[in-house]
Amino acid sequence: MITIALSKGRIFEETLPLLKAAGIEVLEDPDTSRKLILTTNQPDVRVLVVRATDVPTYVQYGGADMGITGKDTLLEHGSQGLYQPLDLHIAQCRISVAVRSDFDYKTAVKKGSRLTVATKYVAIAREFFASKGVHVDLIKLYGSMELAPLVGMADAIVDLVSTGNTLKANHLVEVEHIMDITSRLVVNQAALKLKQAQIRPIIDAFESAVGASQ
Ligand code: ATP
Ligand code: PRP
Ligand code: MG
Repeated sequence: MITIALSKGRIFEETLPLLKAAGIEVLEDPDTSRKLILTTNQPDVRVLVVRATDVPTYVQYGGADMGITGKDTLLEHGSQGLYQPLDLHIAQCRISVAVRSDFDYKTAVKKGSRLTVATKYVAIAREFFASKGVHVDLIKLYGSMELAPLVGMADAIVDLVSTGNTLKANHLVEVEHIMDITSRLVVNQAALKLKQAQIRPIIDAFESAVGASQ
């Protein structure tokens, strides 16, 4: 049995064509089914529906043989014990620093002011601001980061940006582009050794499908 961990939403949707290229079709819809283990057209392949931030954990502990997760999640979580054979180029976005449009970020940084930064990505934010020599107090949030500067809780946020619509709708502006983000295939290292014969063809099919779509 091969077990693949996926999160609902964009990763699930963008992974379906890749699975299809590997001859795998998921037989249930995670948006309508309450089931957390989904069957596929292949009796020896199943899909686990997990929280996006839990995908690396499931794969590390062998709850799943492989999974698909954002580079943001991998950097934040750490990637010990995970083999990362492929950038799938799906769920493309960037991780950025944003502030209220009336906040003078440049001057604050130049003056050496201490910034309060709200984010779900504390590790990425800590590393980024340390590399710039900017002192920060980090506030860990689990979602809706965009709110924090609006209610005076933070000077800045570190969050994902794609179209920029969420920032715009909340009167925030992007002031730093930290890095580009895409989703990666992650494989449990022990599973890769023990189940080479089943896992390799899936990696190869994903690789050709990604190559063909570039
Ligand atoms: P949870 O509800 O569990 O907090 P989440 O918000 O982390 O879930 P998703 O929004 O599906 O889950 O994000 C999964 C991954 O998709 C992220 O880790 C990131 O790599 C990528 N992603 C997130 N938002 C966007 C976006 N707006 N555009 C493109 N890719 C995105
Ligand atoms: C993500 C991210 C931003 C938004 C950016 O949220 O956390 O808020 O997308 O995308 P945009 O630049 O295209 O507006 P998501 O849609 O995943 O909602 P969530 O709060 O449920 O995670
Ligand atoms: Mg999200």
